[in-house]
Amino acid sequence: MTDQNLIISPSILAGSFARASSLLESIADSGTDYVHLDVMDGCFVPNITFGAKFIRDIREGSDLVFDTHLMIEEPEKLIPSFLDAGCNIITIHQEATRHLDRALGMIRDGGSECGVAINPATPVSTIEAILPVVDYVLIMSVNPGFGGQRFIPYTAKKIEALSNLRENEGYQYRISVDGGVNGKNIRLLYDAGADIAVMGTAFFSATDKKAFMDSIRHILEEE
Ligand code: DX5
Ligand code: ZN
Repeated sequence: MTDQNLIISPSILAGSFARASSLLESIADSGTDYVHLDVMDGCFVPNITFGAKFIRDIREGSDLVFDTHLMIEEPEKLIPSFLDAGCNIITIHQEATRHLDRALGMIRDGGSECGVAINPATPVSTIEAILPVVDYVLIMSVNPGFGGQRFIPYTAKKIEALSNLRENEGYQYRISVDGGVNGKNIRLLYDAGADIAVMGTAFFSATDKKAFMDSIRHILEEE
């Protein structure tokens, strides 16, 4: 077992947006401080969810860390609105912008933590140059666009590579894994070096969310 703590960041994509405030309450009650917000534009990914207005509205009633995952083309055009909406972390895709360094700088200068995400087939080498200046690296372990998909096993190697790079180079980023994460694969991802596990379907399909979180903790504590 490694000595890092694993944070669970539940994705509200797996719940009903019509009951957004009760989703946030159930997340807070389960004992985690994070909520994962999946923003999709119907262009970078074949699905549309919500935008900055929705996030601003739910921000008013919640103290959770808003871990925002922008699956949108040219995120630099909309980053200011997500900063204004009160996102604590804004993660953008390497594949979605020509000016990754500039876009990440906008996030940092706006006072939020910045993250870079890569799709399953995108190699870690494509983000190696900016690793010294990111707060989070998000490894997509499904093709982005939908919840409830099956975990793609080869993505775990990228977590391991990022964990090794961090150790060898003294980098500070945290590693997130997003897509198809459940009680069966979470140990493997934790052992590979993940710090944050996004969970949509697995979290929201549990009727007793505190018991679910306990079961995850138990899995991570096993020898
Ligand atoms: C997929 C999203 C994920 C998704 C995870 O494009 O980025 O955050 O909601 O959901 P599950 O855990 O159901 O795969
Ligand atoms: Zn996500």
